[in-house]
Amino acid sequence: MFNKKTIEDLQVRGKRVLVRCDFNVPLDGDKITDETRINGALPTIKYLMENGAKVILCSHMGKPKGEPKPEFSLAPVAKSLTAKLGKEVVFAADDNVVGENAKKAVAEMNDGDVVLLQNTRYRAEETKNIDTFSEELASLADVFVNDAFGTAHRAHCSTEGVTKYLKEAAAGYLIQKEIEYLGNAVDSPARPLVAVLGGSKVSSKISVINNLLEKVDTLIIGGGMAYTFMKACGEEVGDSLLEADFIDYAKEMMDKAEKKGVKLLIPVDTVVATAFDNDAEHKTVGRGGIEAGWQGLDIGEKTIELYKDALKDAKTVVWNGPMGVFEMPNFAKGTNAIAQMLADLDAITVIGGGDSVAAVNQAGLGDKMSHISTGGGASLEFLEGKELPGIVALNDK
Ligand code: 3PG
Repeated sequence: MFNKKTIEDLQVRGKRVLVRCDFNVPLDGDKITDETRINGALPTIKYLMENGAKVILCSHMGKPKGEPKPEFSLAPVAKSLTAKLGKEVVFAADDNVVGENAKKAVAEMNDGDVVLLQNTRYRAEETKNIDTFSEELASLADVFVNDAFGTAHRAHCSTEGVTKYLKEAAAGYLIQKEIEYLGNAVDSPARPLVAVLGGSKVSSKISVINNLLEKVDTLIIGGGMAYTFMKACGEEVGDSLLEADFIDYAKEMMDKAEKKGVKLLIPVDTVVATAFDNDAEHKTVGRGGIEAGWQGLDIGEKTIELYKDALKDAKTVVWNGPMGVFEMPNFAKGTNAIAQMLADLDAITVIGGGDSVAAVNQAGLGDKMSHISTGGGASLEFLEGKELPGIVALNDK
């Protein structure tokens, strides 16, 4: 249950509403190459416009490290929003974010208008959550709405600090939807609940593995981190990615799974190659068969079948991290097979984390999933069971 106030709990007509979005979108020059996050913010923006609010949007983009850097300007986002909303979004291009342009633009707003501030990380105070900038941001508005799920794990001025200076702080639709999907998936799932974890490192998923073992019926491990688990089972992994410092941890997790009655699956065969290169010589080997000079880059056919079988009766699936180097066609089979399996499944499917989202979209299966999270780090921290400061700071219902 989402227990924070949402925009529908606010009286917004005629009010200046500061909305924190996550417009940290990938750019190629000034061209936005993936608009998912912008699209994700539209329901909240449209609701506020339709209900007569003066909508003041803010976001970070990249890591300009507290200085104005033109390559991190939010100007392309203003252009994209203008096209999507069918109404001019006034871009207040102040290097100090809350500057003369912003103040003037806000003073001139009519109900339903939209202004976008410059990149909040142009200000050094932002990531340090220093009060001066929080107060300046708050001075532009009457009410705060946080809809930046992707940045909710950061306690920054524009996500957390600002709430100290505005009485009302509520969640937008995107945050609400993200928390409902991710929260229900791990806390009150339709069972069986299966988690599929991949990606390169055990070290970055330690707390996720530990937390999910408390919740899931089956845990499927793939990707680069599988080799550390294989090593923990006494298998040779050749030149595959290995985090030697985490072998004991992997053992501990396998013991924990056994004690909890959770089925923990690791690959039974592996696609190995002589180099980290799509065109490198490659073959499939069985358990313990990875020789020196070869590195694992994908799960093999038998593992795909094993994982499909483990997924076939699932009623909820959480997927975070690819099964192999899906960016290289020769090593994308495992990841694509899982994506296809999830697309065909009659279950709640929640995809969290940048790489698995990219993989699902690359396979053209995005619209077949129940929910695709807009948060990389944020969804990971949520799955670790951590509280997200940008959400904690909002008013309770
Ligand atoms: C993200 O892309 O994960 C969010 O926008 C947060 O960005 P950050 O990792 O630079 O804080």
